[in-house]
Amino acid sequence: MYRNGVLPSGELMQSVVKGDIVDESGNLTCMSCHLRSGFGTTEGRVRTPPIDGKRLYSPLSKFKGIP
Ligand code: HEC
Repeated sequence: MYRNGVLPSGELMQSVVKGDIVDESGNLTCMSCHLRSGFGTTEGRVRTPPIDGKRLYSPLSKFKGIP
């Protein structure tokens, strides 16, 4: 799923960007933004956080007030 955007069922994963922009091409995978390493990146004012266990297994930080 992370690198190829394919679900365990074999179907392509659907991406929703900015809440309402839907991409069904399967080209936009987690790796596209969080990078292959999972370390994340910063581009302009967009900060893509690293993917780590703490973030994956926590409620969305925007609801917890973590910057
Ligand atoms: C279009 C780019 C993009 C794609 C594709 C993407 N992400 Fe993200 N992700 C982001 C950005 C940007 C943020 C930070 C959002 C924010 O701060 O509101 C984020 C935040 C996160 C967070 C942290 C949420 C939090 O609590 O702070 C996790 C975990 C995450 N992404 C996992 C994933 C996984 C797993 C996938 C693939 C299924 C994925 N992302 C695909 C851009 C992306």
